[in-house]
Amino acid sequence: MLLHPHPKLQGMPRIAVHEVAPRDGLQMEPRFVPTEAKVAWLDTLSTLGYAKIEVTSFVSPKAIPALADAEEVMRRIHRAPEVVYTVLVPNARGAERAMAARADEFNLVMSASATHNLANLRMTQAQSFATLREVTTLAQQAGVAVNVSLSCAFGCPMEGDVPAAAVLHWVERFAELGVQAVTLCDTTGMADPGQVLALCGAALACFPGIAFTAHFHDTRGLGGANVFAALQAGITRFDASLGGIGGCPYAPGASGNVATEDVVHLLTCLGHDCGLTVEGLADASRLLRAMLGHDLPSAVGRAGPRWQRHEPPVDLVRTFR
Ligand code: COA
Ligand code: ZN
Repeated sequence: MLLHPHPKLQGMPRIAVHEVAPRDGLQMEPRFVPTEAKVAWLDTLSTLGYAKIEVTSFVSPKAIPALADAEEVMRRIHRAPEVVYTVLVPNARGAERAMAARADEFNLVMSASATHNLANLRMTQAQSFATLREVTTLAQQAGVAVNVSLSCAFGCPMEGDVPAAAVLHWVERFAELGVQAVTLCDTTGMADPGQVLALCGAALACFPGIAFTAHFHDTRGLGGANVFAALQAGITRFDASLGGIGGCPYAPGASGNVATEDVVHLLTCLGHDCGLTVEGLADASRLLRAMLGHDLPSAVGRAGPRWQRHEPPVDLVRTFR
C-alpha cells in the first residue's frame, strides 16, 4: 500500500507524466535492445498509469540505430486505450512511417538552437520549420495529433544561452499553424529553476491555448528543482525517463532525463496525483535494468521512497532494551 507522506492537497491539478525512456532513453544506449524485450517492457509500461508513452523514433536508422525497429515495435505492442502512444518525427518521411504505424501523435522535433538543429537534424531551422509545416498539414488532414518538441529551449551546449524570445518565437510560429501542444526541452540539463520559472511562466502567459510539457535532463543535479519550478509556473505535464536514462547523441555532454521514479516521488511528496506510484514503477525499472545490463541513475530507484522504513540494527535494539 502506498503511504502518502502528506495528506492529499485539495485543488491540486492532476499531473500528466509522459514516459520517454523507450525513445529518449534507448536512443542513447550503446547496445541494441532486442525488439522482443522492448515490446515486453513497453507492454508493462502500458499498465502503469502513464498519460503518454513515447514509443520510438521514425528517424534515419543510420542516425539512431538503437531505434531501427520502430515499425515492428509499433506493430507488436499492446495498446492501452487510455494511453497516448506518441513517436518522434523529424521530417515527412518520418511522418509517413509514423502514419502507417498508426501512431496516436507525432512528436515533431526541432531545436531552439540553430547550431543544435544543424547537428541533430542536418537542417537549418528554416528548413526544419518548412518541413514540419508540411508534416503538420498532413497530420491535420489525417486527424493525427501533433506535439512540437523544442530542443535546447533552456540553453545549447554549443551556443550557450538561448534567448527566451527565440523560444517563444518558434512557439508562435507553430501556434500559427494550429499546433496546440509544445514541449520545452532542456536537452543537456542547462536549465536552472529561476530560468524555468521565467520561461515556463512567459510561455503559459503568452500562449494560453497551448498545452505545454516540460522535459528536463538531470545532467547537473537540477532536474528535481526544475520540475518543482515548472510546477510553480503552472506546468502540469512532464516528460520523464524510467531509471533516468537518456540523452541526445547529437548534443555534446548530454546525459539522462529526470528519472520517472524521482519525478513521481517528488509529485507524491507534494500531494499531486499523477496516476502513477513509485512502487508501481519498480517492476518496469527492474525489467529495464536487466534489459540494459547496467545500473540506472535514478536516486529513488536506488534508495527507495522516503516513506520506506528500515529495521534498526539488531545490536542497537539489544543494547538499549
Ligand atoms: N526515416 C528513415 N530514413 C530516413 C528518414 C526517416 N525519417 N529521413 C531520411 N532518411 C534516410 C534517407 O532515406 C537516406 O537514406 P539513404 O542514405 O539510405 O539514401 C538517409 O536517411 C539520408 O537522408 P537525408 O534526407 O539526406 O537526411 P539527412 O542525412 O540530412 O538526415 C534526418 C536528416 C532528420 C533524417 C536525420 O538527421 C535524423 O534522422 N535525425 C534524427 C536525429 C535524432 O533522432 N536525434 C535524437 C532525438 S532529438
Ligand atoms: Zn531529451
